[in-house]
Amino acid sequence: GATELGPYRHYMQKEIFEQPRAVADTLGGIEHIDPALFGDSAGTLAGVRRVLILACGTSSYAGAVARHWIEALARIPVDVETASEYRTRDSVPDPETLVIGVSQSGETADTLSALRHARALGMTRQLAICNVAGSAMMREASLRFLTHAGVEIGVASTKAFTTQLVALFLLALVLAKQRGRLDAQAERDHLQALRHLPVALQAALATEPQIIAWAEAFTRKNNALFLGRGMHFPIAQEGALKLKEISYIHAEAYPAGELKHGPLALVTDEMPVVTVAPNDVLLDKLKSNLQEVRARGGELYVFTDAGTRIEASPGVHAIRLPEHYGLLSPIVHVVPLQLLAYHTAVARGTDVDKPRNLAKSVTVE
Ligand code: G6P
Repeated sequence: GATELGPYRHYMQKEIFEQPRAVADTLGGIEHIDPALFGDSAGTLAGVRRVLILACGTSSYAGAVARHWIEALARIPVDVETASEYRTRDSVPDPETLVIGVSQSGETADTLSALRHARALGMTRQLAICNVAGSAMMREASLRFLTHAGVEIGVASTKAFTTQLVALFLLALVLAKQRGRLDAQAERDHLQALRHLPVALQAALATEPQIIAWAEAFTRKNNALFLGRGMHFPIAQEGALKLKEISYIHAEAYPAGELKHGPLALVTDEMPVVTVAPNDVLLDKLKSNLQEVRARGGELYVFTDAGTRIEASPGVHAIRLPEHYGLLSPIVHVVPLQLLAYHTAVARGTDVDKPRNLAKSVTVE
């Protein structure tokens, strides 16, 4: 059952390892890309001209990844905004916008009030992506998608995040198909890649022994930098958030290209630099960012995948996933970062499932 730890030491570890199942359950028996996946029988999604994603914490990073997918596949402009900021800002409403609330709990006060605020401004086309069926967000939205992560107990979100990403990728495919940007072959290929995700996630989970060795080095650090580019920048942000939440190590994420505009000043041999380096079009640029770090004595911890020619060398540690996962790569690359935060926290002896000062669901603004 959901509340039994089984062979795991903490709920967070259990939930990290449940991700192949959670993703498979969220996909269910899906055979076609159809707006009905989001409860849309009235053509709401077909009519939207912009997307605004509102969320907090880890859920907002799912939105930030989805922005890349929706813009690239469906060619619809996407904004992602922290719910508390949107809620309190004098923004310009646009009724043609699809407003998406992404939330594990469906009860986060800032996200809920941001969605209500958008509605009050006339933005009534709203989609809730939540992990709790009867939650306030799911009740109030006209369109909804239930992720099937199952009950998540660890305060730091893991399996809810990867299932939110699956939901958002499906949405990108729906919007693309409606706009004539997804032919039958592409639809089959994307669905096949989605069905392969549980296997890909297993491969990422299998890096755990290597990550335990890395975590040992991280326990003695006070700071860490996380780098990524493109749709893996939000994954770097999520890695940094996880590390600070549960291990209490100060961690910051930067888009790798911004390194030279500030954080490079912090890089010494005391600063571990964790990098998400999949084999995508940004790899060459990323490699030169990594050289900038090495030249200042920074120690690199690189998560890469097939065919990148990034090898371990003095000052460079590398863990390689066996395949490159294309557009779905962020869903796979987040797993080793979750494990790194988890094992660092365990080695530091923190209360992993209930980090100090944090709550699972923040129901006050
Ligand atoms: C809290 C939790 C985070 C979570 C965030 C948003 O801060 O500790 O893990 O990402 O709330 O929660 P939600 O339920 O809206 O996804």
